[in-house]
Amino acid sequence: MSVKISPSVLTADFLTLKDDIKKLEDAGTDMLHLDVMDGIFVPNISFGVPVIRSIKRHTKLPLDVHLMIDRPHRYIKQFAEVSDFLGFHYEAGSDVAETLKEIRSYGCKACLTIKPCTPPEEIFEFLPLCDMVLVMSVEPGFGGQKFMPEALSKLSALRAEISKRGLDILLEVDGGINAETAPLAARAGADVLVAGNYVFSADDMKATVREIKSF
Ligand code: DX5
Ligand code: ZN
Repeated sequence: MSVKISPSVLTADFLTLKDDIKKLEDAGTDMLHLDVMDGIFVPNISFGVPVIRSIKRHTKLPLDVHLMIDRPHRYIKQFAEVSDFLGFHYEAGSDVAETLKEIRSYGCKACLTIKPCTPPEEIFEFLPLCDMVLVMSVEPGFGGQKFMPEALSKLSALRAEISKRGLDILLEVDGGINAETAPLAARAGADVLVAGNYVFSADDMKATVREIKSF
C-alpha cells in the first residue's frame, strides 16, 4: 500500500490555486492540507474559514484542516462546516477529549496534533477519540523548514501504540517532507505525508506528487 499525500497550500500562489488543485487531483492527491494560523499560537497569520470555503467549492478532495490557533475549542463549529479532517494542537489550551468529541459530533474526522517538543506518550490516552494523529516534523508556523529527524521515533512509537490497541487511526507527518525525508517517514509508520514547499515549488507538480506517493 502506498502512502497518502496531503499537499499544504500554505506557500501556493492563491491566484492560481484553482489550476494547481486540478493538477493535484489529476496526479492522485489524497487530500488537501490547509494551515490555519492565528499569530498567537504560532508567530504567523495565514487564512481562515472564508478561504477554505472557497477552496471547498472547487474540489472534491477531502480537506485536511490543521488549526494552529490558541484555544481552538472556540472555533470548532465554524471550521467543522468546511473540513473533512479537523485537527488541533494538544498544546493549544483546549480540553483535548472534549474538543476531539466535539469535532466528531459534527461528522468530521478528529485529528490531534503534537509539536516537536511533545512526547508521543502524552497523547496515548486520547487515541481512542482520534481518527488521525499529526506529528509535526518542524516547529509549526512556516513552510519551507528542514525536517527534524526526531519525528521518526515519535512516529514509530505512535504506530506501535496504535497497532497494540488495534485502532484504525491515520498517522500523518507535517514539515520538511521531500524525496529524501518521505521514505524515512513512511518507513517509521506515517501513512499520510503533508508536503508544502516541495510540491508547490516543483516545476512538475504532478510528477512530484506521484514521486512522494510511491514511497
Ligand atoms: C507548518 C505547516 C506545514 C507546512 C508544510 O506550520 O503546518 O503544513 O506548510 O510545509 P513544508 O512542506 O514546506 O514544510
Ligand atoms: Zn500543517
